[in-house]
Parts: sequence; C-alpha cells; structure tokens
Amino acid sequence: MVNVEPLVIVHGGAGRWSLVFEASRERGLGISEESVLDGVRQAALAGYRVLESGGSAVDAVVESVAWMEGSGLFNAGIAAALAANGEVLMDAGIMDGSSRRAVGVFCLKYPRHPIRLARLLLGRTRHVLLGCEYADRLAREYGLEKHPGPHPRAQALYDAARRKALEGSGYTDNRELLERLGVILSDTVGAVALDRDGNIAAGVSTGGTTFKVPGRVGDSPIPGAGYYALNGVGGAAATGLGEAILLSSLTSRIAWYLREGYDAVKAGWKALGELEEVAGGGAGVIIIDSNGGYAAVFDTEAMPWAVAAEGGVKDYGLWRR
Ligand code: GLY
Repeated sequence: MVNVEPLVIVHGGAGRWSLVFEASRERGLGISEESVLDGVRQAALAGYRVLESGGSAVDAVVESVAWMEGSGLFNAGIAAALAANGEVLMDAGIMDGSSRRAVGVFCLKYPRHPIRLARLLLGRTRHVLLGCEYADRLAREYGLEKHPGPHPRAQALYDAARRKALEGSGYTDNRELLERLGVILSDTVGAVALDRDGNIAAGVSTGGTTFKVPGRVGDSPIPGAGYYALNGVGGAAATGLGEAILLSSLTSRIAWYLREGYDAVKAGWKALGELEEVAGGGAGVIIIDSNGGYAAVFDTEAMPWAVAAEGGVKDYGLWRR
C-alpha cells in the first residue's frame, strides 16, 4: 500500500474578482478579499479533515466543494450565477482516479449541493453524464437539500449583466457577451485531493457564466475538460470560460503532460498556454501530481485558491503576480 502525505487544493473561481468586490461594496453583500480568502482556506480544511480521519480523496473533494457551494461567496451552489432568463442552472462533476470513473451533472435547478448528486451517482451508475429535470428528479428522490433560489450575490451580478446586455442585443456568444459585460466572471469552484493510499480525485461545481443562454453547458460536468483524475498520474480541476476549456480539453491535456513526466506547475502552464492559443485564454486550474506536488495557475486577474495538508493551511493566494 502506498503511503503518501494527504493533500487538498481548492479554487474559488478564476475571473475579474475586482468587479465582484465592487458589486459587493455597492450592495453590502459582504464579499471581500478577506472573506473569499478565508472561504477557500476553510474549504481546503473541510476536505483535509476527511483525509485526516482516513477518508477517501473522493469524499474530501466533495466536502471541500460542498463547503464552497454552501458559503454564498462563490459562483456555485446557493450563490450560483443566473442564466439570462433569471434561472439557476447548475453543473458539477467528479472523477475518482482509483476507479477511473466520473459523473457529470448539468442544467440542475433542484439541489443546493450539485456535487453531492454527482457523488451519489458515481456509486450508482456507469453513465458519465446526466442532466436536466431527470437529474433534478434523482436529487429530490435521494433526499438531497433543495436550492433556496437566487442569492443576492448572483442577483447583483445578474442585474449588472442585464443592464449591460440591454445596451446591446442578441448575444448568443459567451465571449462576446462577457467582453461586453466587462467579464463579470468569477466562476466555478473546484477541488483536487490526494489521500494516504495514493488515490487522487477531482471535482467542480458551478452556476456557469452569468447571463448565459439558458441550456448552455460549459466545461464543468465534462471529464477531461472541467476536471480529471488518474491514480499514479495526478488530478486537475479547471475554472474560467467553459468554451475555452472545452475546446482545449484542458484537464485531459494536463493529465497527458503529467504522464509524460512534467510536474504540476509545468504541466499547468503548458496546458494553459495551449488553451490561450486554441481559444484565447480566460481560465485557471488547480493540480496535484502523483508525487504530491501542486499548482494553482491562471491567466485571469485573480483566482482564490488554498492548500491544506498536515498542520493546516499550507499555502494560498488570490491575485495574479
Ligand atoms: N467554467 C464554468 C463554465 O464556464 O460554465
């Protein structure tokens, strides 16, 4: 049996966090640099507690992501971004590097914690993607907590986006819309964990892009795009503009480079550089390699992230250096 130092890394979304802080100051939402950094540190510790008590990498990822979904600080779970029609439409996914199985759920309205639905399905089905009202129905039948409806954080960003969108017309392309909106994008939460048996898991959860076309699905439920994990190789969880991440297969590219012998930092920057070539950038990713090396790389203004290991929070950051 492998015996490695357990580790969790989380992110709270790559994007224009200065705009979120500005909207928060205007509306008194209590989302500040300090609260967001404290949020990612708490989320990393929530996952690490699972590992410390002998739990699996998959369950650590779930607890880290669920912490952020329930915090109201990030675009996921209770504060998930609103689509152009004002609805909450969430996506999430998780991959277990030991079984090499993954489940992505998409276009969800019902659960407060989409990551918990993905986790339940991971043990119950061989299907990889499940969505819409059918997946919502399963969440209800499994007795998962119900989403409380639009959160003030999401509503504030939606209102700002709507005002800007009304200045133009007919946006169906996310990048064009987001550029028009000043990229009101602070997007997705994710976690990657390595447990003491050497198992790696990765997962993400999101409301998608603010003011997205209803029915649009980004990278988050798709293994190889939003998240990926393979024992003996490593794991990655992405954030940013889903279309760019999908078109560059960001996390499977990272797994490829890790397998080739790149460490987490080098694999991350190489794959992110290629995403920029293929699709123009606008993303971030957290990575753990099989040696326990980690990386948080992003080409956006900011991405809150934190690492927890023995002794507590080991590292964290927010702004691009
Ligand atoms: N990265 C999340 C999304 O684009 O939906």
